[in-house]
Amino acid sequence: MMFFKKEERMKPKIKNLNGVNTKKIINKDSFFVSPSYTRLYPFVIKKGKGLWVEDVDGNIFLDFTAGIAVNSTGHCHPEIVKVIKKQLDKFIHMSGTDFYYDLQIELSKKLSQLYSIKERSKVFLCNSGTEAIEAAFKLARYYTAKKRNIAFEGAFHGRTMGSLSLSKSKDVHRYGFEPLLEGIIHVPYANCYRCKYEETVYRCGFKCVDKVNEILESDNDVAAVFVEPIQGEGGYIVPPFGFLRKLRKITSNYDVLLIVDEIQCGMGRTGRMFTYQYEDIKPDIVVLAKGIASGMPLGAVIAPDRIMSWAPGKHATTFGGNPLSCVAALKTIELLEKGLIHNADNIGTYLLCKFNEIVYKYPFIGDVRGRGLMIGMEIVDDPYAKRENVVLRDRIIQKCFERGLLLLGCGKSSIRFSPSLTIKHYEADICLDILKSVLKEI
Ligand SMILES: Cc1ncc(COP(=O)(O)O)c(C=O)c1O
Repeated sequence: MMFFKKEERMKPKIKNLNGVNTKKIINKDSFFVSPSYTRLYPFVIKKGKGLWVEDVDGNIFLDFTAGIAVNSTGHCHPEIVKVIKKQLDKFIHMSGTDFYYDLQIELSKKLSQLYSIKERSKVFLCNSGTEAIEAAFKLARYYTAKKRNIAFEGAFHGRTMGSLSLSKSKDVHRYGFEPLLEGIIHVPYANCYRCKYEETVYRCGFKCVDKVNEILESDNDVAAVFVEPIQGEGGYIVPPFGFLRKLRKITSNYDVLLIVDEIQCGMGRTGRMFTYQYEDIKPDIVVLAKGIASGMPLGAVIAPDRIMSWAPGKHATTFGGNPLSCVAALKTIELLEKGLIHNADNIGTYLLCKFNEIVYKYPFIGDVRGRGLMIGMEIVDDPYAKRENVVLRDRIIQKCFERGLLLLGCGKSSIRFSPSLTIKHYEADICLDILKSVLKEI
């Protein structure tokens, strides 16, 4: 078959949507797989290369999801595949908890250097975003010996009990699992499209951050503030410049840790290695996962030596920092630094400009926002009332799927565009063409 030819300009090819093979697998899934997953359309992958994926019935799609912002170097990047295969012949697992291996050390060294070249730091490696958040949570409590934490409304930090307690993006995540952890205070995020204070951008001087100040003024038992530089699951919400800087200033004033969750927006996706670097701040703890290892499971927590000073036995994981994930991460970082971050910035800016040209044509597009390849489009009933139109959002995503473009939702009624950082201009144009044709029809 013609799929995956080198240098070929691919096109979506839809010939047999929801065909026999797809139906068979989805039927089997309904018997054996947890029903807690949320699939919007019937896509069953057979193989993938770059931004292109083929399903089990031979349809070809352009993937603008990157497996929920994970495949930073595209599907099966040849250099990632090569290092994983090479490592497979050496050893697959030994556990960094009880033994040493150089790959874990090399990756930790690289991540520490990315965090700071001035201050020595250490890294804890695990398997996922939620595990990394749990580790950061424990580290903050251990280091400060304080009980409370601040997080933001609309935040998503994961689904295990600690990270779930910090999350507040969708009710469905939390309800039915109470009691959640005590001592988490949620404050409004700088979501200027839906400002809790009914203020306009920049005029308010960040009342949401003033709220943090107000809490810290009267409560000296707060260990940390957890923040996403751009909210991911919460709807791809981009705070105006100055938000993080003010938050950093206030947390520093009160000696409270600033924990930056770069799980979705980090690893080059927004045009910098870490999104907080746009504001030239230094967090106390940085949390990573998703795009760090091009699809291999890996999470990481980075903190200066003075903070990551817990004693042996205080925290560990059997699988964390698996050698296959480590080689994939080292190669991913190399590819990001060699040009993919620049590409994310470049094509992300192009896409955002093009989306902004569309906004004015369709009153149901309430807002378009983003940085690099993390772009959100919010779908509403009308541009003034801003009531979220979930049904319309889902219809747009469904119709794009039918034309060969894979998208995901986020927030209540937003569409997220989070392609791999290897995206080429013509692929951005295909996404735009399909989206425009669907918007026109709707
Ligand atoms: C910002 C952020 N933090 C944490 C998580 C949790 O990561 P994981 O699903 O790997 O546990 C996610 C996942 O979407 C995320 O976007």
